[in-house]
Amino acid sequence: MTIELQEVCKVYNHGLANEVTALRAVSLTIAAGSMVCLRGPSGSGKSTLLAIIGCVFPPTSGRAVIGGQQISRLPDHFLGRCRREMIGFIFQRFNVLPQLTVLENITLPLLPLGIAPKHRLQRAMPLLAKLGLEHRRDFPAGQISGGELQRVAIARALINDPPFLLADEPTAHLDTQRSLEFMQIAG
Ligand SMILES: Nc1ncnc2c1ncn2[C@@H]1O[C@H](COP(=O)(O)OP(=O)(O)OP(=O)(O)O)[C@@H](O)[C@H]1O
Ligand SMILES: [Mg+2]
Repeated sequence: MTIELQEVCKVYNHGLANEVTALRAVSLTIAAGSMVCLRGPSGSGKSTLLAIIGCVFPPTSGRAVIGGQQISRLPDHFLGRCRREMIGFIFQRFNVLPQLTVLENITLPLLPLGIAPKHRLQRAMPLLAKLGLEHRRDFPAGQISGGELQRVAIARALINDPPFLLADEPTAHLDTQRSLEFMQIAG
């Protein structure tokens, strides 16, 4: 399971007055089992690159092969399937749904797989414990702290045990102890 990008470009709002070239000819190969850290100034395209690797949207041009799948030219519903099967994504802005409970948010990726509620809970329990969220399990996600929200996003990304875990600034809202714990869980 490798990640391979060749000459990947991403242009937002192509052909419009507000056009932005976020990525220009990025090529990289990431071997299975490795942990890679992407660094760069704000606005340099890190989140955009992760979104392409995470099958959120295809590149404007270039080739992207994720876990053997050429995703660069896939129709949307196939891209969605690749994302569900291969990617755990911790978004920079979390994308946690505030009206759902912590447990419901964490188990959301299991819904399309048709897993029964009892088994969803079984899968979630160890993650809730690992991330120190047991006492917030039935709270609406809109009523918890920033660091707790981030841990919900981490648990949700891990629940499917995906081959690829993509984390966009996953420790920005965590204290030092929790950050170290995250690095251990992710590693
Ligand atoms: N949906 C969008 N529409 C238009 N432009 C966008 C969009 N998303 C990002 N951009 C622009 O693309 C460029 C790269 O953005 P991106 O979010 O990938 O950067 P980043 O390296 O993750 O930044 P940060 O460190 O601040 O999170 C920026 O100039 C940004 O303004
Ligand atoms: Mg970013």
